[in-house]
Amino acid sequence: MAEQQAGPPGFSVVPGAAVHRSLAGRRAEIIDLVEDAYRLHGEGRTVNPPSYFLRFPDRPTARIIALPASVGGGVGADGEAGGVDGIKWISSFPGNLGLGIPRASALLLLNDPRTGYPYACLEGSIISAVRTAASAASAARRLAEQRGTPRRVGFFGTGLIARYVHDYLSELGWQLDEFGVHDLSAEYAASFAERVLGPTGRPVRVHQDAESLVRSSDLIVFATTAAAPHVTDPSWFDHNPLVLHVSLRDLGTDIVLRSANVVDDVEHVLKADTSVHLAEQETGDRDFLDATLYDVLTGKFTAPADRPVVFSPFGLGVLDLAVGAHVHRLATAAGDTVPVDGFFHELDRHQSAATS
Ligand SMILES: NC(=O)c1ccc[n+]([C@@H]2O[C@H](COP(=O)([O-])OP(=O)(O)OC[C@H]3O[C@@H](n4cnc5c(N)ncnc54)[C@H](O)[C@@H]3O)[C@@H](O)[C@H]2O)c1
Repeated sequence: MAEQQAGPPGFSVVPGAAVHRSLAGRRAEIIDLVEDAYRLHGEGRTVNPPSYFLRFPDRPTARIIALPASVGGGVGADGEAGGVDGIKWISSFPGNLGLGIPRASALLLLNDPRTGYPYACLEGSIISAVRTAASAASAARRLAEQRGTPRRVGFFGTGLIARYVHDYLSELGWQLDEFGVHDLSAEYAASFAERVLGPTGRPVRVHQDAESLVRSSDLIVFATTAAAPHVTDPSWFDHNPLVLHVSLRDLGTDIVLRSANVVDDVEHVLKADTSVHLAEQETGDRDFLDATLYDVLTGKFTAPADRPVVFSPFGLGVLDLAVGAHVHRLATAAGDTVPVDGFFHELDRHQSAATS
């Protein structure tokens, strides 16, 4: 939360480089912070309305999403008691890859819950990738504790999110035998295999076909940009892998319906033609959803080992706020923000700032 204001409300910008510096070496801490945010969410101490999708008739693959949210007090690895309100505004333009820049770009605005005044604007794409990866790592950690540690990890889709998920999974300290990768683009798969997984020293197999990657992995990370299911044969999952379905729309409903399904938030994830949303439309109910991550964290749900387990996280704005507020605190303490003096100018209701 913003520091106690004596004078006019302050405002600062936190550029991507400062966000990156603030988060360096803190993956374990961020996984715990994200779990704290899920607990608060599960306890009803957050506000997280539906995301708002801005789409364009002339650019059907592009979208910009607004994720407003409010996190109650108690989140923060440093024990900070205050809460935070705010919004993430995140663009997804898959065509950016052809321009040599990442698909997603984002801003995160933090508002002071006492006054509503915005007090910080942070580069949001790193925070978004980090909270997504920390959420995936949390689910993987807790579900693997129940079902056994994977030895073979496969990445289906090899973009920026896959890289962050890899970084956060590596924090779990698993002893892995090998990695697998598969991507529509052989070039991206080869680059990921060499530059992201190569330094691990573990064997890396590039799979030309999707089936081979799925059958060869105990844990599969889906991080593609597929808009509709393209993996539809349930028999590929006969070995009952753990699936982190981060990209949400890859799996056919037959696979969803024969798996144990864990989600982040039921109302959120049953929207926007996610695979679980399609399964709800097909069956007319949501009985196939077994648990939320909160249920896993609190021990209410134990994942079976004799079925595939699919984690489908819609991605909650409360996670962006929890991580973003923490980054802001760290960057402020390190003198690594860019203060914008006088950002709020008209502060006397009866006297114009111009004449005072
Ligand atoms: N659930 C969440 O909270 C959350 C948060 C952030 C991002 N995401 C999702 O993660 C996904 C990946 O994001 P990114 O920034 O890494 O994107 P990216 O564009 O950097 O990478 C996506 C990769 O997937 C590959 N791909 C696309 N369709 C494929 C298919 N059918 N089979 C195999 N490979 C395919 C592309 O070639 C590309 O290399 C996006 O769908 C995004 O919406 C989810």
